[in-house]
Amino acid sequence: MTTILAIESSCDETSAAVCRNGNILSNIIATQKIHEQYGGVVPELASRAHMQNIVPVVDAALKQAGCTMEDVDGIAFTQAPGLIGALLVGTEFAKSLALALGKPLISVHHMQAHVLANLIDTPRPSFPFLCLTVSGGHTQIVLCRSENDMEVLGQTIDDAAGEAFDKTAKLLALPYPGGPLVDKYAKQGNAVYKFPEPQIPGLNFSFSGLKTSILYFLQNAGTANVYKAELAVDEGTRRKFVADNLANICASVQHRIVSILLNKLKKAAAQTGIKDICIAGGVSANSGLRNAFKETGDQLGWNTFIPRFEYCTDNAAMIAITGYYKYLNGDFEKMDVVPSARAEWTIKN
Ligand code: KG4
Ligand code: ZN
Repeated sequence: MTTILAIESSCDETSAAVCRNGNILSNIIATQKIHEQYGGVVPELASRAHMQNIVPVVDAALKQAGCTMEDVDGIAFTQAPGLIGALLVGTEFAKSLALALGKPLISVHHMQAHVLANLIDTPRPSFPFLCLTVSGGHTQIVLCRSENDMEVLGQTIDDAAGEAFDKTAKLLALPYPGGPLVDKYAKQGNAVYKFPEPQIPGLNFSFSGLKTSILYFLQNAGTANVYKAELAVDEGTRRKFVADNLANICASVQHRIVSILLNKLKKAAAQTGIKDICIAGGVSANSGLRNAFKETGDQLGWNTFIPRFEYCTDNAAMIAITGYYKYLNGDFEKMDVVPSARAEWTIKN
């Protein structure tokens, strides 16, 4: 029997989970509410909140799993990427536990874990599979040959898909994080406004042009050429336009973000000939993306997989399942490991 305790602290969620033989026994997530009033995550406040949350969250995860520290065979933690101060809290806590218990330490890449969240529940994708990982910080298409062999085939060259949602919400004066609200209003509207699709070569993505065209579109209250900022209308007219057309604006933006994502995913599937296709990350909670992904999959004969909602957004269960496979592989970390904010990765053992 192999029991892994995992800790995730890369951004604004303090999470701990216990996994036994690949089954998740607990997944406790403390979401930091303090950032809402600032309209985005404040790194210093995130680190402090992790310091306050980590002991109770780990205790709760062990308790819910019916385990004690003595039952744990390995300690997994998120080593990269993320906010460096936030990662430091989880890393040092995991190292302390591993030292005190004399158990192996297992470092996990957050993006590898988002992909492997698809292996938590059944039915599972078969190897090799493709995963579109879409979150607040990342947009990637990953080729996954095995639990320990993954390659990033394409990624964003500027903003992430989640950022495109959150920045749109900010322009529409919706509170942070706005992605779920854009989703909510989009359900009540139609994609009547046509935002441009960027022409980026290969399997890479770009969302910064879309953000600019939304800004100009709103500055022009949808009445003029969406690319020309100098035609800007007054603030009152702009606000009235947004209030009167919120649902259609959200539906139009969401439609474009989803089409950008799925067009690249279709291209990756055609290039590799792979039919088992997953999505992962916080944006995979988006109803427009989920529906369009399933529809596309049905049309193209894909086997589609989406993790359960609590395994889509940041969580330690995905760190635990990844840690479990690394444990089986004997892939342990040294005690002088340091976290890294950097996102670049390819996993091959
Ligand atoms: O994976 P995640 O929880 O954290 C990161 O690693 O970034 O993803 C958070 C992102 C945010 O940008 C949030 O607005 C977006 O996921 N998100 C959504 C939805 N739910 C979460 N975006 C669009 N529609 C949603 N329903
Ligand atoms: Zn994430």
